[in-house]
Amino acid sequence: MKKELKVPLIKNGTVIDHITGGNAVKVLIILGIPETSSVVSVAMNVKSKLGKKDIVKVENRELDPKEVDKIALIAPKATINIIRDYEVTKKQRVKLPDEIVGIVKCSNPTCVSNANEPVESRFLIVNKDPPRIKCYYCEREPEDISERII
Ligand code: CTP
Ligand code: ZN
Repeated sequence: MKKELKVPLIKNGTVIDHITGGNAVKVLIILGIPETSSVVSVAMNVKSKLGKKDIVKVENRELDPKEVDKIALIAPKATINIIRDYEVTKKQRVKLPDEIVGIVKCSNPTCVSNANEPVESRFLIVNKDPPRIKCYYCEREPEDISERII
């Protein structure tokens, strides 16, 4: 009898679970996976209680807070699980901060945050899920947030 193929458990590393279905590729880009040699496994469009989800497992690597903030912008329901010796030692739900500072580039070329001035980009949250944000300075909403992440 053939068994269902499942993504294997990992020994050490980080599991990003409950990613909005289809968004695993964007998470991989945020983590710079294509350029690293980390062992990574991905499951996409897995059935779950709340519809379809993606899962990304990165071995022997933990995430820095900036990466977690970026993931929150494209996968607001994601959980970050730290795995040590096969056990989930920490589970953290991503959280959108009230303001997104220095993480997203405004799509308005004449925005003050894009001028040659020392003004960091700054966005306010318009909607939590799906995430929508608007520029604090010029109020422009980026159409595809993931493409504007710095
Ligand atoms: N996981 C893994 N390797 C391990 C332990 C867990 O890849 N050694 C993965 C599981 O497959 C799951 C995620 O880490 O995708 C979280 O594991 P766990 O907390 O055990 O699962 P759930 O209780 O289903 O998580 P949640 O309540 O967050 O849905
Ligand atoms: Zn702007």
